Amino acid sequence: MSNNLLQGKRGIITGALDENSIAWKVAEKAFEQGAKIVLTNAPIALRMGKINELAAKTNSKVIPADATNVEEINKMLIESQEFLGGKIDFLLHSIAQSPNIRKNIGYPELNYDYYDKTLDISALSLHKMLAAAYKLDAMSEGGSVVTLSYMAAQRTFSFYTDMADAKALLESIVRSFGYHYGKHRKVRVNSVSQSPTKTTAGSGIKGFNTFYDFAQLNAPLGNADAESCADYCITLFSDLTKMVTMQNLMHDGGYSNTGASSDLMDKFGEE
Ligand code: NAI
Repeated sequence: MSNNLLQGKRGIITGALDENSIAWKVAEKAFEQGAKIVLTNAPIALRMGKINELAAKTNSKVIPADATNVEEINKMLIESQEFLGGKIDFLLHSIAQSPNIRKNIGYPELNYDYYDKTLDISALSLHKMLAAAYKLDAMSEGGSVVTLSYMAAQRTFSFYTDMADAKALLESIVRSFGYHYGKHRKVRVNSVSQSPTKTTAGSGIKGFNTFYDFAQLNAPLGNADAESCADYCITLFSDLTKMVTMQNLMHDGGYSNTGASSDLMDKFGEE
């Protein structure tokens, strides 16, 4: 269903690896809503993933860029504007990776080289993209940037290790850069704090499936899936949310404000 919410808008979507990626759904919906888009991902992900399939479906161009490399980001932003035919109206930052999680290293034992990489890929990459766009004046006035976060930025989830710290930093960058970009060009910056979602990044976390089921029972609406997350992102790219900025927006079926649901009580209750 299309309401042409993004008709005439130009966007960049990072992080679409395969059809499970949240970014994949955002790209499909942005196209459906009338936007012209560029897809970008790390060169290695372009070789391993299915991004060309998505590009064909959405009439978009794939421009590689490692999100930790400022030079590559600059190049990608310049080439994107050439392809799109003007300044960028919206940008989805949908990027995360933790070598510590991948190698199953617990929080007290974190490897600091890996920790630096986690922060660089999962949080500083947002600053780098925003700073590059700001300096190139690549975003149009009233533009919108959305990044994806997780509630472990506010509350401890034992399995989320250094990614929790990365998300806390990410959300702080949303506020700080949101202030500067808002003053400079009325560009808004928000994070969407999403439910556990079955994607490559999500499923890489040990204990993910157990936690997914737990959250599903606790949230009154159940877990929000990737498709509904994409719908929410589309509203944030649209002109219907022009005054929303510097926010961390919960998209979790009510999980974050629920102590214990009746479903969970029943599961652990006495006979
Ligand atoms: P995904 O694995 O499909 O997407 C992660 C993307 O990050 C991949 O496309 C990967 O290639 C890209 N990436 C990694 N290193 C990169 C680099 N150096 N340069 C450019 N791109 C790079 O997984 P998903 O779940 O769609 O993740 C997207 C975002 O959503 C992440 O920020 C994640 O933390 C966030 N999120 C995911 C949740 C989940 O349970 N899946 C829950 C809450 C937030």
